Amino acid sequence: MTTAFTPADITHHLPPHFLADSLRRDVLAGLGSTPKTLPPKWFYDQRGSGLFEQITQLPEYYPTRAEREALELHAREIAAAAPAETLVELGSGSSRKTPILLRALQEAGPLARYVAVDVSDSALVAAHEDLARAFPELELEAVAADFEHQLHLLPSTGTRMVAFLGGTIGNFEPQQRRHFLRAVRGMLGDGDGSVLLGADLVKPVDQLLPAYDDSQGVTADFNRNVLRVLNAELGADFDVDAFEHVAAWNEAEEWVEMRLRATRPMRVRLPGVGLEVDFAEGEELRTEVSAKFRPERLEEELDDAGFRLAGRWTDAAGRFTLALAKPC
Ligand code: SAH
Ligand code: AVI
Repeated sequence: MTTAFTPADITHHLPPHFLADSLRRDVLAGLGSTPKTLPPKWFYDQRGSGLFEQITQLPEYYPTRAEREALELHAREIAAAAPAETLVELGSGSSRKTPILLRALQEAGPLARYVAVDVSDSALVAAHEDLARAFPELELEAVAADFEHQLHLLPSTGTRMVAFLGGTIGNFEPQQRRHFLRAVRGMLGDGDGSVLLGADLVKPVDQLLPAYDDSQGVTADFNRNVLRVLNAELGADFDVDAFEHVAAWNEAEEWVEMRLRATRPMRVRLPGVGLEVDFAEGEELRTEVSAKFRPERLEEELDDAGFRLAGRWTDAAGRFTLALAKPC
């Protein structure tokens, strides 16, 4: 019988006042700027993580299914090209596609442990039970950490493959992405580790936009959830339903932007940060970018961070790519 895995079993690296301090900094910078922005990390409280799981099952949201298919088709080749003793997954969420990679790594060699890394305790706990049942022979570790700032705190045992799946690499802006890829390179050192990136590819807008504006309104709810998080954590008084969900393709940047548009003029109080913010009717707050890649650009960015591409695979329809890279 396995004993229940609880938040107390998570290795916590988030500072004690992470929510309070880091959210406060992001809100002061983002709501104080023009146009107003917020980083996507704050979508993922328990409710937001649940809504993201629902998104992955929507008919319009192809990335999860496309990445799963790419893993099913190519995980063995990937594992053969980069056998590992430790799989570290950043932003692991529900870890639902991870078993495909874990099985392939087990077949390819000496896989001994899986380390799931996420800011969301609820996602880490929910993922753990299924994994413990399916992989009783593996050492499983759940780490609550911020992958933008805390990669140096992650376990360094054995040859590591660092997986960053789901297309989350697209949720960084270019400069953050450069910084992140360099930090992953620094984390791996000059040994025989590898990084596996899942990235969504540029495709026609009529396929992209419905994935971010689904007919059931789940993505709209996910988008507005960030305002609920601000209400709960900072005592803010956002009238959540007074903001409408917007998804738009930014051609110059090749990313989808999610925004929240004020449907009337509003003054919002955020006592937790000592801020009052005015929204004009129609004013938009940008809550996420989701960059879509061209393979050449991904390779250049990996190269620039000190990696060499060791292989690249896609799903059968070529919608989503898995890029494997090694330190050079
Ligand atoms: N990899 C999963 C989940 C993608 S959703 C999949 O492919 O389905 C993005 C995940 O990244 C969420 O679980 C969220 O909680 C996590 N996340 C977002 N920002 C983060 C950060 N700065 N540090 C760690 N985890 C983060
Ligand atoms: C987690 N990330 C890759 C998702 C994406 O597609 O950019 C988050 C998301 N936003 C809206 N729908 C899903």
